[in-house]
Amino acid sequence: MTLDRPIKIAPSILSADFAAFGAECAAVEAQGADWVHVDVMDGHFVPNITFGPATCAAIRPHIKGVMDVHLMIAPVDPHIDAFAEAGADIITAHLEAGPHIHRTLQAIRNSGKKAGLALNPGTGIDAVGHLLDMVDLVCVMTVNPGFGGQKFIHSQLDKIRALRALIGDRPIHIEIDGGVTPQTAPLVAAAGADVLVAGSAVFRGGSPDDPTAYGENIRALRTAAEVATGRAT
Ligand code: DX5
Ligand code: ZN
Repeated sequence: MTLDRPIKIAPSILSADFAAFGAECAAVEAQGADWVHVDVMDGHFVPNITFGPATCAAIRPHIKGVMDVHLMIAPVDPHIDAFAEAGADIITAHLEAGPHIHRTLQAIRNSGKKAGLALNPGTGIDAVGHLLDMVDLVCVMTVNPGFGGQKFIHSQLDKIRALRALIGDRPIHIEIDGGVTPQTAPLVAAAGADVLVAGSAVFRGGSPDDPTAYGENIRALRTAAEVATGRAT
């Protein structure tokens, strides 16, 4: 099947040098990244802690394109405005983060931002059907959230296919997050994903001073995904 949505590569700065976020964001964009994916973790919803809205605001001027903020926090609602003011373009919240995901998505849209809905590997897509008019993106976690560099969970491919069928022609991205490599990118793209988050597979082998490996890594992911879906020219 040939899909008409271009593949987007979204490097996750979880695998970047935390002391050089600005330079890292500029480097991956210069090397071909479509979006920059920003992982916010609270040590409560997930076992790891990263950073909050102040860091997002500091990073923002260094990103020319889309800042894709993935909130792995609970509760979410009290913090939405802070991440909106920090300059996020997309704010993604987890279905599992609280009892009122519809309210959360409404609040994200009301903040003027695009709304994303993330699903942990153990979560089905039943609820998504009731939220399709609320979301701009569904993020399928292909690892348990909290850490970079984990192994891709293959059982999620069926979920991606089911989601693609559910979404149909609606303008909703399917984003994949976790364990995306040149080996797994073709699988998720063929299943119907169009946004591929990748941390370790983008940042390995490079640095802001020597970013050519970032470009090679991004091209390898994009080519693998495009070939699998007949998008490659
Ligand atoms: C995991 C994060 C991911 C992570 C992906 O909880 O949401 O964005 O950085 O890392 P890789 O690509 O290394 O699996
Ligand atoms: Zn993420």
